Order: sequence, then structure tokens, then C-alpha cells
Amino acid sequence: MKIGVLTGGGDAPGLNIAVYTFVKLAERKHEVYAIFHGWKGLLNKEVRRVTSADLLDFAFAGGTYIRTSRTNPFKDEERAALLAKNVKELGLDVVVAIGGDDTLGAAGEAQGRGILNALGIPKTIDNDVWGTDYTIGFDTAVNRAIEATENFKTTLISHERIGVVEVMGREAGWIALHTGLATMADMVLIPEKEVGWDVVAERAKKAYEARRWALVVVSEGVKSYGGPVDEFGHVRLGGVGNELAAYIEKKAGVEARAVIPGHIIRGSPPTAFDRVLAVRYAEAAYEALEAGKFGVMAAYRGGEITYVPITEVVGKNKLVSGEWLKLYERFWG
Ligand code: F6P
Repeated sequence: MKIGVLTGGGDAPGLNIAVYTFVKLAERKHEVYAIFHGWKGLLNKEVRRVTSADLLDFAFAGGTYIRTSRTNPFKDEERAALLAKNVKELGLDVVVAIGGDDTLGAAGEAQGRGILNALGIPKTIDNDVWGTDYTIGFDTAVNRAIEATENFKTTLISHERIGVVEVMGREAGWIALHTGLATMADMVLIPEKEVGWDVVAERAKKAYEARRWALVVVSEGVKSYGGPVDEFGHVRLGGVGNELAAYIEKKAGVEARAVIPGHIIRGSPPTAFDRVLAVRYAEAAYEALEAGKFGVMAAYRGGEITYVPITEVVGKNKLVSGEWLKLYERFWG
């Protein structure tokens, strides 16, 4: 078979391992092609035969060696037709799409329209893909966010200040919640739970009065400032940390600072968990391929690797809920 592999959406630590592992398994029997720049690479025919030996030097680094894009191949019918034409001309039998909701959504759509056979692997530092407990990259992002927060904390203590850490996550508060739990922040703000900023300032002030420093973690998605929108309709987020720190400073009458680790937590080399998760997902995708089982995404549920139909996953956001929301409430509700 001729198999294409692509990565789409925001990059995530562990992507290179997933690609490398899949190629290593599949190249024994098949021809494997890297599709550069996500779905854009199929519209532009940026496709190159690869071997695992080509990929090994970068396999354990952050980022994605085969690049990425936020191109939506189904933005209009003209593009969809071009996609179908190129897939046919390239002779691709299967495309392994490694991505979040948007990238997987396009894979599901392509499969549904009979353009190609798709296999999905979930990745995103946001951990918001439906149908799986963990996406590739989330564990690394949280570990780096915790490191940043702990380093920030020492200088907050030295200077006796209030600190606000803003982390990524879009509409899902997973990174903020985990960072807050792991550092026992005084207050955490997530998009799933609306909290008035007066309450936040009050909590920070109280904590400050007790020990002369305080820590707040905020998820970027609690406030949107408008701005550029990508091809899937997502507005660019970021910046709420600065506004919140200024608000707290004014309300609490205590000097406050904000830090935004931003893309730094996304660009890291993967943790052990993400490395092994990427290998397990890639192996599961290969197994599905050999079994002729298409239109599915490899998923991690309760420690086991399983499969979910891609169509069941797309269009839903896995938000903080249930036990996790209860945990949030216990500390910051
Ligand atoms: O979806 C992953 C993510 O890292 C989000 O957490 C964040 O809002 C967005 O991507 C940032 O995207 P960009 O790299 O385009 O700034």
C-alpha cells in the first residue's frame, strides 16, 4: 500500500515519535510518504517518500519535522475536489492524520466522502479531543507549565508579590487545572467555570496577607480579545494574564506580575509519558491498517489503547467535567 502521514494544527511534543514509529512499522511492507504541512501538503502535493532512517535524528525532539498547518481542505468544494484529485493522482491508499479536532474532522470528512481511507491519532497540548483520556503533548505541556510556575513562585516569594501564570488550552481548562493542582495555586481560572475577577482578587489578597505572596493560574480561554481567526473558525487567544494581574494589583493593592509561558511549553521535547503514548498510538494505527480497519482514531481509555470511530470524535470538545470539575470545586469553587 501507499500510505501518507501528516500532522495538522498546533504542534505538540511527541509528534515526531508518532510519525517515526508508524513509519518504522509500516515500511517493512508498504511505501510510506510524509505529507508536509498537514492537509495543505495534499492540496499542494508536498509529499515525499520517507524511511525511518530519515526521521530518526529528529524523532525525540519537540515540534513536528514534517511540519504542520491549520489548512482546512474542506473550506470549500473547490478545495475538496482538489484534495480528491491529488489523492488519486498520488495513489495514496491510506492517510494517517495526527491532529486535534480540526485535523481529525477533515480525516473523517475525507473518509466519509470516499476520498481516502483515514486513520487518526489524537494530539494537542490542550487535551480536548473527545473519546480519549490523553492526547499526545498534554503531559509534556503540563510538566513544562509546572516548571515555569515553580520558578516564577520563587521570585514571587523573594519580592513578595502576587503572580499570575497564563497557560494555553483554548476552550478547555485542562492545562490550567493540572498546573493549579500540581502547584496548589491559590486560585485557578478555567473556561468551564465562570468566576468573577473580584473573587479572584479577594482570594489572592487573602493568601497574600497570610504569607506575603500568592499565585493564580489562568487559562487563556477565559477571555477572548477578538483578533485573527483561522480556517476552522478559531480566534487567536492569549493575553488575559496581563489584564488579570493588573486588575488584581489594583483591587488588592499589592504588586502583581504575569507570565505567559505560551509556546515554550508546547515546543519542549516530550516526557516519558508522551513518548510511550506516541509509540502506543502509532502501533495501534499500524495494527488497524493491517486489519483493514479504517475511519478510526486510536484512543487511550483507562490505561488501555482502543479505537473510536473518527466521526464520533469530531465536533465535540472534551472539556473539564465530572470528577475533574469536582476536584476544581474542592479547591477553588
Ligand atoms: O491548540 C493548541 C494551541 O496551542 C492552543 O492551546 C493555543 O490557543 C493555540 O494552539 C495557539 O496557536 P498558535 O500556535 O497558532 O499561536
